Amino acid sequence: MTISKTPFGTTKAGKPVHLYTLTNANGTEARILDYGATIQSLIYQGEDRVLGYDDLEGYENGDAYIGAVIGRVGNRIGEAQFELDGKTYSLFANNGLHCNHGGKEGFDRKVWTAGTDGRRLILDYLSPDGEEGFPGNLKVRATYELTEDDALILKLSAETDAPTPVNLTCHPYFNLSGEDTVKNHDLQVYSDLITNCDETLLPDGAIVDIQHSSLDFTKKKKIGEALSDTHSRRIREARGIDHNYILSDDFQNRIQNAATLSSGPVSLTVLTDQPGVQIYTANWLDDIGKGGRRMGNYSGCAIEGQGWPDSIHHASFPNCVLEPGEPYNRTIIYQFENESSQSD
Ligand code: BGC
Repeated sequence: MTISKTPFGTTKAGKPVHLYTLTNANGTEARILDYGATIQSLIYQGEDRVLGYDDLEGYENGDAYIGAVIGRVGNRIGEAQFELDGKTYSLFANNGLHCNHGGKEGFDRKVWTAGTDGRRLILDYLSPDGEEGFPGNLKVRATYELTEDDALILKLSAETDAPTPVNLTCHPYFNLSGEDTVKNHDLQVYSDLITNCDETLLPDGAIVDIQHSSLDFTKKKKIGEALSDTHSRRIREARGIDHNYILSDDFQNRIQNAATLSSGPVSLTVLTDQPGVQIYTANWLDDIGKGGRRMGNYSGCAIEGQGWPDSIHHASFPNCVLEPGEPYNRTIIYQFENESSQSD
């Protein structure tokens, strides 16, 4: 495994940005930016399997969190405010009335401090007390390691000096085939439950069984089959799949399969110890990406291991408040495989 570093431009605010390339003996490559701790490319068997941009301008102008680490709180916080220890905190409403993915300028828009220990790329960011309205100085670390069996391991950790909600995730959009959309991709999600949400995709606290509905991916099926179900209220309201599947309702730190996306012999399995996984089929994307490629609706599928959305407002959801002195460690693994190259 080698790690190399090249310049990737300068932000509008004048900060230099770098691209780090992790390469294993198979030639698999993970290209990561210190801007947003972003997965810019994942090259498996000669093909790039994620959406992204060729230049920093694309990342700075884009609004779809393509490939980035998300924080301080991934997904929605209802009505962009919350109460903690008797105090009300107001956030930036960037998703209708709600705060999504950290607010106006989340961790995806920050230049992280990068280093390596030879094996892993280590990215650090200090989110100061009051940033985006959140309490407490939060020290965040994202480490990326590429294994010799083609897994990219992302570890997310944090520590705080005051109680604060934290929900870190990562937002790569996978497209394994290079086709315009992922409608022909097969998807399997290792869960038959989602957090119920209203038409603004905000949870109402209920958990629903989605077996035998269009959101049921317990057996692998084509993404397009679900998307074409115009009778499904959930699919209609979200304009596609944009739902939090429940992997566990506790924090037992068990790494388990969250979802497998496949196209032909190539598959990508996301494993995580997070209690939920958001499956998002790029229902609002309209942009130009790497190599001038059009990134339209359904051109990628984001698989985001995460805490449950709006947990801060639901005592029955897994706790999202991090206390001083308490560890926060989460893992998300992106494992590539090609069934035709497997030996028996
Ligand atoms: C959310 C979507 C949102 C998207 C933004 C996803 O994680 O669930 O609702 O539109 O991120 O790119």
